[in-house]
Amino acid sequence: MSSRPKVTVVGAGMVGGTVAQMLALRDYADVVLVDIVEGLPQGKSLDLMQVGPLMGFDSNLTGSNGYEETAGSSVVVITSGIARKPGMSRDDLLKTNMGIVGSVTQQVVAASPDAIIIVVSNPLDAMCHVAFDAAGFPRERVIGMAGVLDSARFRTFIAMEAGVSVQDVSAMVLGGHGDTMVPLSRYSTIAGIPITEYLPADRVKAIEDRTANGGAEIVGLLKTGSAYYAPGTSTVEMVDSILLDKKRILPCSVLLQGEYGIEGLFVGVPVKLGAAGLEQIVQLNLTDNESAALKKSASSVQGLVDAMKTLKDSD
Ligand code: LAC
Repeated sequence: MSSRPKVTVVGAGMVGGTVAQMLALRDYADVVLVDIVEGLPQGKSLDLMQVGPLMGFDSNLTGSNGYEETAGSSVVVITSGIARKPGMSRDDLLKTNMGIVGSVTQQVVAASPDAIIIVVSNPLDAMCHVAFDAAGFPRERVIGMAGVLDSARFRTFIAMEAGVSVQDVSAMVLGGHGDTMVPLSRYSTIAGIPITEYLPADRVKAIEDRTANGGAEIVGLLKTGSAYYAPGTSTVEMVDSILLDKKRILPCSVLLQGEYGIEGLFVGVPVKLGAAGLEQIVQLNLTDNESAALKKSASSVQGLVDAMKTLKDSD
């Protein structure tokens, strides 16, 4: 029994596997990979353990088809569910994934009542609602991963366009993880200079559109599934901030209770992530247009929440 913190990753698909791999490389936590498919989490864990001597980490990785081994996890990452195929929107996944995420969350919480849950399954903001309801945790301990990925995509496209190092680019994306997300160019900078001053307006607009479409662009190329390297790595950035108590300010989907004029919905906003999970919601001053775009994005999350209620009632 090691005294390293335990991170459970539910879902041993491509995203779950990438989360486990990137976490193992960080070398401060042990990882339990869970999946219903027999042999899959065990096989991936053993494969990843054998990377240890090559990359120099001592993290233990365990695969399981049940939840016993997950007991006492500090962080649980939920990646379970089906992924998009070309032509599918994230919302098409709603009915299947709400059942899966609800049942996974109940089992996770029974084994690790003090865990912080990071939701990765799509449609992201809706699945945060499912996990939040199933867990019965305070909002500080149910957090969705989307904005870190969306802003990583935005940063990538900004750096490509400007021909500068991505290290000198920071970016902010608000809203739901969908077509209505709000890439916030005014708060996105190259060496501190807003990109709206650095790049022509039409190029900024093109990059914003490509960011909002960033997941679908990869689904269209891969054809058999959706992105996983950047989604998995984005998740680990959040795990780092929580378990190392780094207090990063990262855009995450959290339950808003009046912040940004939004009540009772999971929507992406900048938050401080630390040992307690969600430690602060950072309020940005928005223009009327930005604020309207955020409200519109929130109303599309509301639409999914309503749709889930109808699906539940019709069962
Ligand atoms: C994406 C999917 C995973 O944005 O939502 O790539």
